Amino acid sequence: MQNSLFGSELRQEAEDFIRLFHREEAPGDPTARIAAVRAEIDETGTYRHTRAELDYGARVAWRNSNRCIGRLYWRSLRIRDRRHIDDADSVARESAQHLREATNGGRIRPLITVFAPDAPYRPGPRIWNEQLVRYACYGSARDAAVGDPRNAGLTDFALGLGWSGGPGTPFDLLPLVIEDGDRKPRYYELPRDAVLEVELHHPEESWYADLGLRWHAVPAIANMCLEIGGVCYPAAPFNGWYMGTEIGARNLADTDRYDLLPVIAERLGLDTSDDRSLWKDRALVEMNRAVLHSFDRAGVTVADHHTESRRFLTHLDREASRGRTVGADWSWIVPPISGSATPVFHRTYDTTQWRPAYVHHPEAQARARGEGGERTELV
Ligand code: ARG
Repeated sequence: MQNSLFGSELRQEAEDFIRLFHREEAPGDPTARIAAVRAEIDETGTYRHTRAELDYGARVAWRNSNRCIGRLYWRSLRIRDRRHIDDADSVARESAQHLREATNGGRIRPLITVFAPDAPYRPGPRIWNEQLVRYACYGSARDAAVGDPRNAGLTDFALGLGWSGGPGTPFDLLPLVIEDGDRKPRYYELPRDAVLEVELHHPEESWYADLGLRWHAVPAIANMCLEIGGVCYPAAPFNGWYMGTEIGARNLADTDRYDLLPVIAERLGLDTSDDRSLWKDRALVEMNRAVLHSFDRAGVTVADHHTESRRFLTHLDREASRGRTVGADWSWIVPPISGSATPVFHRTYDTTQWRPAYVHHPEAQARARGEGGERTELV
């Protein structure tokens, strides 16, 4: 299956997008461009965005990401136009290069690499991993599992493809699993130099470093579709920088992820037999202090949730002054710790989902679980 639109739906979406582009970005009469796009759709079943349309579309898709608190800098997104690339080998090579350029020695740059779109009878490539950098998980027995349980399915799938597995640490890099338009998925080991990681230390507790915790510097979502004017780019990995709570309050703390709060609490000498000692809350704070401290110490960009919350309100004001409403999902915008201590908690948001947008397709989410989704058909 491919996700681009067809026929009249495509024509309508395309026209809406071209009008938006001309209204906001390229003042002038859109009539000629709309006519050209219609003719191209009639002839080929799809149309090709100009470079300016692609850049604008990718940026506005970020602006329209209702779950993202970090949208103040949506205009600064850099675009790597790789629409001519549709084979898995090149997608793997360019994805590694994406990580190098996004990492930028620690000064993380928001970046997207756009590979070939879905076209009639020519689906674009797909990256199965939900992010370019993910940690493997071996062993399905919950208590015996080593690694990030979120990626257990894809780890099994990669092993089934012939991947020999990593050294067996809790932080082994998963290979990329990439599928061409019409071929079977294949796996690609990430070059080591493409992946920057931060070793976690605590500002005061010296035992913390002995836990051997680490996290990768760049969160690069790899399995969401970039949808612009009815055209779907299924492989368009993009990244911003981390907010510390994503790592300290979710990835390392959730009971179905690394589940480390009991370990931290015990080392802190807290009473874990009684919820009312608030041992989880205290462990969360120390975990998050360690994440921010370690990224700072390593010279890697990371936001804290207080600063990022204030920036988000600045974003809302700035957009309002341009006459635009910002869609937002309260349950995602409010940070997972200390919500009420941040200003984003104390208000409501318009939940309208505007387009262009980054979209989760269910079959892409199934692939990230190693379930294969449906085989890409030549539709
Ligand atoms: N929450 C995801 C993670 O912890 C990353 C999502 C995107 N985050 C971002 N700061 N751009 O890996």
